[in-house]
Amino acid sequence: MIFGGDVRKGVAGKKRGWSASRPRVLSDVVGKPQIMSLCKRYGKAKRILELGCGVDGFAYAMASFAKSVDAVDSSPERIRIASMVSCGNIRYHRADMRRLPLNDGSIDLCVSNLTVNNIKPDELPGFYNEVARVLSRRGRFVLLIPHPFYVPWAKFNDTSWSVKGGDYCGSRGKLFVGKLKTLDGRVIGIRMYHSLLEDHSQAQREAGLVCWMKEMPITGAISGKYHLYKGNEGLMPYIVMDGMKVRV
Ligand SMILES: C[S@@+](CC[C@H](N)C(=O)[O-])C[C@H]1O[C@@H](n2cnc3c(N)ncnc32)[C@H](O)[C@@H]1O
Repeated sequence: MIFGGDVRKGVAGKKRGWSASRPRVLSDVVGKPQIMSLCKRYGKAKRILELGCGVDGFAYAMASFAKSVDAVDSSPERIRIASMVSCGNIRYHRADMRRLPLNDGSIDLCVSNLTVNNIKPDELPGFYNEVARVLSRRGRFVLLIPHPFYVPWAKFNDTSWSVKGGDYCGSRGKLFVGKLKTLDGRVIGIRMYHSLLEDHSQAQREAGLVCWMKEMPITGAISGKYHLYKGNEGLMPYIVMDGMKVRV
């Protein structure tokens, strides 16, 4: 999903770095906390790459434990804003994640939150080849994606889509555009291309990557704490892909 809202708002988050204790959207409490804990496990003193960094300060938070962080985004505006607050071991690049300005084998951990869904299913093989190219031997990747079984059909309290109905296989390649309520009471634009989990698995396998996929549910604790998600417990908005390069 793309959060097309106020990019300047993210700078406040970036100044302190991303934290689950300052949530704005659902992924801040479901999905990103799990991604951050995997990054701490795999990325300590390592070379980390973030794809589609936006302005939420995830790169800045990872810089506190990484050796280095390369943060890539295709939006000049987002890169300009993100790099307003930086530190010595972060490099920001305005670049397309399908053609990375990085050397072969130069990255130990590739991370991405809610950005891979900007790629059409037929472009996933090229994208995963590029991830495999920049990863070192046994390099890891962790990706957060919207769950294609549930998003955009599930009735999350915070989301509405312009397309109603549709089906998992028949909607392959379709662009879904919608709106999302934030925890601080705003409404922002979102969009995603619909790829099947099979598109990801096949493209990863062909690129020499293996991956374990874990569904991220809205728990009773989350729906109890955040009124916006009341009645949404048990729904699965996101999938965490926890993977590794196995072929060199
Ligand atoms: C939904 S935002 C997510 C931003 C941030 N990762 C987060 O979780 O808040 C998606 C980001 O991906 C970037 N993006 C979209 N397509 C891209 C591409 N092909 N290459 C690099 N960045 C891209 C957008 O500019 C945007 O900043």
